[in-house]
Amino acid sequence: MMHVSKARARTNIALVKYWGKRDGALNLPAVGSISMTLSSLHTTTEVGFDTRLSEDTVVINGRPAQGRERERVCAVLDVVRQTAGAGHRAAVRTENNFPTASGLASSASGFAALAAAAARAAGLELPVSELSRLARLGSGSAPRSILGGFVELPAGVLADGSDCVPREILPPDAWDVRLLVAVNGRAEKAVGSTEGMERTKGTSPYYRQWVETHAADMQAAADAIRARGIARLGAVVESSCFKMHASMMAATPPILYWNGATVEVIRTVRDLRNAGLDAYVTIDAGPHVKVLCPAAQSSEIADRIAKVDGVERVIVERPGPGVEILT
Ligand code: PMV
Repeated sequence: MMHVSKARARTNIALVKYWGKRDGALNLPAVGSISMTLSSLHTTTEVGFDTRLSEDTVVINGRPAQGRERERVCAVLDVVRQTAGAGHRAAVRTENNFPTASGLASSASGFAALAAAAARAAGLELPVSELSRLARLGSGSAPRSILGGFVELPAGVLADGSDCVPREILPPDAWDVRLLVAVNGRAEKAVGSTEGMERTKGTSPYYRQWVETHAADMQAAADAIRARGIARLGAVVESSCFKMHASMMAATPPILYWNGATVEVIRTVRDLRNAGLDAYVTIDAGPHVKVLCPAAQSSEIADRIAKVDGVERVIVERPGPGVEILT
């Protein structure tokens, strides 16, 4: 007997960043985060529980997953099996429409899609809190991709993580902004985010300040989003991004995800702002720069960024929907 379900989730980009864990086993964040779910970059995942399988099979972009990557997927499947009271192994097939592990947040869309598809394939109708808990087992940023538009994920204080549940700040169609993704390299990241976070927490002299100044950023960004104030939001977005990168650059050994084009895009965005445009950068655990701007200015800004040396292409994203069950 076989139960198959397919789900699609979009990636999300943090406007207020998450970096650091308060509980490694439950993968609970030390700080909250605020993100925008994107419209086009996505993962589609099919899960089939099958009585005939003797072990879980996991295929990511046509290639069998192994080691840690496979274990993270199986950990989510194990919790789904426990919750459903069923022991069948699963066949998982997942496809990204963009490069994996390159700082384009494939783990966020991947684990959000996996949580939704696995739960549905097991016959479970789970609320956002439970889907989010499943997604979080794989990636700390994945709970945010369960919801669409502008999303807040509080760090929470409870030991079981039951207060670390994403909530919507604004739905996708409530604010017409764009995030331009300036792709400038395909290299898989040198330091995974979990290792990078642990190293920063353990060795960076700036980690404590990063955590202590975070709540004020969360409040300011949420207020700015509700007020649709792009300049106010942009100031917090850049500050949160640079504080996160500064704290990891000060770790031992230092963590640097940027390349030359990263810096050139940052400078170009600053020039655009000096020329009167509303453009603001953010950068994750990879070299790509994402630029927040109003829809009306997005073509002009995208054209300028596309001309920066080393930028391969610019993907234009608008606020997108939460996770969807396809079959
Ligand atoms: O969810 P992870 O483990 O890939 O960590 C995400 C870390 C950042 O992308 C750098 C920040 C964020 O909040 O998405």
